[in-house]
Amino acid sequence: MTTSAIVVVGSVNADLLIRTPTHPAPGETVLGRSFSVLAGGKGANQAVAAARLGARVCLVGAVGADELARPALATLRESDVDLTAVAVLSEPTGVAMITVADGGENAIVVAPGANALIDARHLDSHLPLIGGAEVVVLPGEIPRSGIEAAIRAARGRVVLNLAPVIEVDLDVLRRVDPLVVNEYEAFDTLEMVAGAAARREVGNDCYAAARALLAAGIPAVVITLGARGALVAQGDEVAAIRSPAVTAVDTTGAGDAFVGALASRLAAGDNLINATRLAVRVGAFSVTGYGAQNSYPTLNDPLPA
Ligand code: RIB
Repeated sequence: MTTSAIVVVGSVNADLLIRTPTHPAPGETVLGRSFSVLAGGKGANQAVAAARLGARVCLVGAVGADELARPALATLRESDVDLTAVAVLSEPTGVAMITVADGGENAIVVAPGANALIDARHLDSHLPLIGGAEVVVLPGEIPRSGIEAAIRAARGRVVLNLAPVIEVDLDVLRRVDPLVVNEYEAFDTLEMVAGAAARREVGNDCYAAARALLAAGIPAVVITLGARGALVAQGDEVAAIRSPAVTAVDTTGAGDAFVGALASRLAAGDNLINATRLAVRVGAFSVTGYGAQNSYPTLNDPLPA
């Protein structure tokens, strides 16, 4: 088993998941099929994905002193993620209300709760841990000041998954290697770093968006494209990595599975292209099961090719 030192600084949620034939339109009530309380949160998902693939992972995050903390942390515990830096704070555990329609498409609303307290002040006492990690992984679900403080403290490689896209200093973005975003987030990030004109200029072209993000000084950019795979942009190259074809039942957390897998391979010494090849397969595996962490593979699971 690989033993890699990854520190994820990110969100922990309880995912309240309803399977439904269709998503409700505004003002509409739809009868769903089933309800489950599952472990989620982008940071927790990424930590579990990396740990299940053999990486040694520590999570810096927070939950509330409430009954949702237990299910939110259950899979992290089972996956041997180090939770000593997960605090119990005054706000409630983060909650995601998720509907998954037939066909696998999801709609998610998040109440951040304790995750909103993971700011620069909270991270002060964790900076030595973050500084000692080989790979630091950050999703966009914690406050800007927390993301910026963690990136500034990192001495290893930083994987920033700007999901959702939040305002972050450009000098901080220039330290990440890689920035991981989906195609919508790529265009929004480009507007944030280079302005509305730059966004208009690339139109709907993900390759052009990737090149423009590199031109803004971000060392490497990975754009996830769902069932189509991913683009890897570094230097002056943009490489397309295709995803294996699978039948999706639930896409929740597929991006997090991708990020966790990518981090696990980078920590093990793979280059970005090879790490992305594995990550698209892990992402594809994850959409074949319900829930986020629930559907992530271990080293014993055969991945789609
Ligand atoms: O990316 C999927 C995750 O987003 C869910 O687990 C949910 O908690 C939200 O944070």
